[in-house]
Amino acid sequence: MTSASKILVLNGPNLDRLDLRDSAIYGMMNFTQLSEFVLRNASDLGLEAEVRQSNSEVEIITWLHEAADGRNPVILNPAAFTHYSYAIRDAAAMLKAPLIEVHLSNPLAREEFRHTSVISGVAQGTIGGFGPDSYRLALLAMKELI
Ligand code: DQA
Repeated sequence: MTSASKILVLNGPNLDRLDLRDSAIYGMMNFTQLSEFVLRNASDLGLEAEVRQSNSEVEIITWLHEAADGRNPVILNPAAFTHYSYAIRDAAAMLKAPLIEVHLSNPLAREEFRHTSVISGVAQGTIGGFGPDSYRLALLAMKELI
């Protein structure tokens, strides 16, 4: 169990392979660099954060259960699960602390199937389109919320 003040920064499928994805869409950072960027910004804001990534819907749901039980705030990039995982939405709806949805890209400016987020309705807010800065802005917003 994690301490309740810790922000869990959870990342979904294929984000571990950012270096192999379209850099015009996702930028130049690989996932290790993105994680370090998030942890550095959290620390600059005086926040405690832990970054995780999984390609498994089950694992992300388990982490959301852990966050609900621990009353942890969550910053979540559900990646492609954003667009169809009702199971992740239902798990996110059980959180006791704020949830912020983040995206590196702006899904609304991309293919039509990305225009739907089944997660947004249970998040405090969504930040997308700013590359890694989406996470920094989410940390800033989270600092105000908690
Ligand atoms: C993403 C956007 C999703 O549509 C996509 O499936 C991803 C990444 C983003 O961070 O921009 O894998 O969540």
